[in-house]
Amino acid sequence: MRKALLLLAGLAAAGCDVLDPMMVQQKVKTYRPSDFYEDGIAMRPAPAGTLAREELFVPEVESGLGPDGKPLPRLPVPMTRELVATGRQRFEVVCAVCHGLVGDGESLVARNMSLRPPPSLHLKVQNPDGWFYQVISQGFGLMPSYASHLTVEERWAVVAYLRALQLSQRTRIDTIPAAERARLMQSEKSGQGVAP
Ligand code: HEC
Repeated sequence: MRKALLLLAGLAAAGCDVLDPMMVQQKVKTYRPSDFYEDGIAMRPAPAGTLAREELFVPEVESGLGPDGKPLPRLPVPMTRELVATGRQRFEVVCAVCHGLVGDGESLVARNMSLRPPPSLHLKVQNPDGWFYQVISQGFGLMPSYASHLTVEERWAVVAYLRALQLSQRTRIDTIPAAERARLMQSEKSGQGVAP
């Protein structure tokens, strides 16, 4: 009996080690004293000149609204190729299922939705970037908020890609530079689409 108990205790201790080494490792705990530092306090002040992530919060970027309370006319982050690429990836995962891959409202969900179907995203092109950002962040009528699916940066990326999609669907072919036009015509013929 005694042997069995010892064995159990041994197993439990070994289990602990295996399961959670962080429980047993040496460390300092919040608000506890510590003789490691000269001042005897475990918690350290932030090094001079550093900022916590939360302190980087920029109200306009987060809310999509300007100081006048109106939606920002333009993206508050730099428009880069990477941003648009991220936006495309997130749009195709999160939004396309309802609004369609090119945002025209052609989707399986739209076809089967008995309530208001997801509309084309090419109708309100005049609306400011901040408005699209707000729709994603807060939802719109029947559409829920996607704030929990997309970080602030990703939401702006989706807006950037949405702008590219809107342009792609209402640009006249004769306004495109000749070389690009040839590339487009070629891909149209081959039916393989255009590499970004
Ligand atoms: C589950 C389906 C669904 C998903 C996913 C979805 N939407 Fe929507 N969206 C809707 C519906 C439905 C409406 C119309 C709601 C209403 O009018 O009550 C709408 C409306 C909108 C509008 C307003 C359009 C207008 O002309 O008024 C925008 C902009 C929009 N969505 C963008 C997005 C973006 C960007 C994403 C991805 C982050 C997204 N939606 C994801 C269903 C969806």
